[in-house]
Amino acid sequence: MLADYLLTELARPDGPAGPDAGLPLNRRLYEALRRAIWDGRLGPGDRLPSSRELAQDLRLSRNTVVAALQQLGAEGYVVSRVGSGTYVHEQLPLHRGASQQRPRDDGHRLPGLSARGQRLTAEPGAAELEIQPFTPGTADFGAFPVALWQRLQNRHWRAARPEMLDYTTLGGYGPLRRAVADYLRVSRSVRLQPEQVLITTGTQQSLELCARLLADPGDTVWIEDPAYWGAVKAFAACDLRLHPTAVDGEGWVPPAADAPAPRLIYVTPSHQYPSGAVMTLARRHALLQAARATGAWVLEDDYDSEFRFDGAPLASLAGLDEDGRVCYMGTFSKVLYPGIKLGYLVVPLGLVEAFRRAHYDLHRPGQLPLQAALAEFMELGHFAAALRRARQTYAARRAALLQALQPLLACTGVRLSGAAQGLHLCLHLPATVDDRALAATLAREGLSVRPLSAYCLQRRDWRGLLIGYGYAQPKLIEPSARRIAEAVQQALRATPAPGGQR
Ligand SMILES: Cc1ncc(COP(=O)(O)O)c(C=O)c1O
Repeated sequence: MLADYLLTELARPDGPAGPDAGLPLNRRLYEALRRAIWDGRLGPGDRLPSSRELAQDLRLSRNTVVAALQQLGAEGYVVSRVGSGTYVHEQLPLHRGASQQRPRDDGHRLPGLSARGQRLTAEPGAAELEIQPFTPGTADFGAFPVALWQRLQNRHWRAARPEMLDYTTLGGYGPLRRAVADYLRVSRSVRLQPEQVLITTGTQQSLELCARLLADPGDTVWIEDPAYWGAVKAFAACDLRLHPTAVDGEGWVPPAADAPAPRLIYVTPSHQYPSGAVMTLARRHALLQAARATGAWVLEDDYDSEFRFDGAPLASLAGLDEDGRVCYMGTFSKVLYPGIKLGYLVVPLGLVEAFRRAHYDLHRPGQLPLQAALAEFMELGHFAAALRRARQTYAARRAALLQALQPLLACTGVRLSGAAQGLHLCLHLPATVDDRALAATLAREGLSVRPLSAYCLQRRDWRGLLIGYGYAQPKLIEPSARRIAEAVQQALRATPAPGGQR
């Protein structure tokens, strides 16, 4: 019976829901329920007991139970239906028993949405639309040279031939594909021909194209844990099964020999998102070897490699690829601005035709005058200049943030990762800290840091904060970092001493 299982989990001292976890009761109940879902004890579509019943059976307050259920709901594990109860989501991408799912009971579904639609819209990740100074991953697009850009755009619009107003069948505007190829060859050591480059509307579209064209529903994708939510969503939208693979200080960790064979392997080798680990050369070779052995495609998301502060950017995984298994993707969201909606996907030569055709059939790509302006922006050296300026700006902001956080690093169990590159860093905290509550407290004060555990798929031991600095104005950094440090210290004092540094 569920209540017995939950009581056992809540009493198990060393378990993630046990008393030694040092978490508030609602978080412990949430952990126990999540475990029950994960273990398959609660199956897709199962109805949970009501909060009143659970409170009674577990001898907890109703508020505690409601808070746990709300958290599960916010993360997409369960859905509540007014007047009907709370149900386990019918299609959880992580659900172990997904292949044995029972037929859907349409009576339990929100009207109009498919099970996939429900799952995609119930999971976290999409709702945080407001950009604030410390939001991880956000660039300072206030620095974008708008006047220059406008001049270039105007010129291309004035000279636009009718064919520039059409869709494009070739994977993008030729000179832009060439400019991107030149850039990647020199800066990222990717070996490629311009025809391998597809101009997309960004990484999200690149991921979705790869997922649709290279995998079938139900296929397994190895994904780093913790993971980028954009990738989780793209794969879930294609009904792929996620197999979380661990991450440590050397990046991607090869999974156990009995892991399900992957069709796709998604990685962020230059700067693991969100931990910031840089994948070592040995791991890169191990990954390519695993791809070769299993016949999988590797999806390399190189989202912020432009911003490496200690030394030159590291060569890409695609640059090491000897047998055409890596699809490499990058974005202009960071160096230019996210709303430009332009990125690139480099596919192995043998896939070029299929990708161009599918890109056209599924997305009808266009925006050639915009692509022409960007090609010229790159050809005339403005892109390189913008990059240099951005690197200087972010290096100074990163240094100020690191300095302000320094005293905090003396605390037991606190450490930083990922500061060598990118636009955010990751502050690791002891596993006893409720990082979601901590982030919520800071968010109420306008400090939009994110909890590390929100990115974790399966692992339970990582807690911390992701702190962006790309968008943080210099005068805000020191006082904000001081406030973050205070809140962290408060959280550390409120939780039991950790068993030691991780
Ligand atoms: C890991 C990762 N990949 C890609 C992106 C950007 O993708 P897009 O080109 O869709 O804006 C982000 C944005 O924050 C990211 O964190």
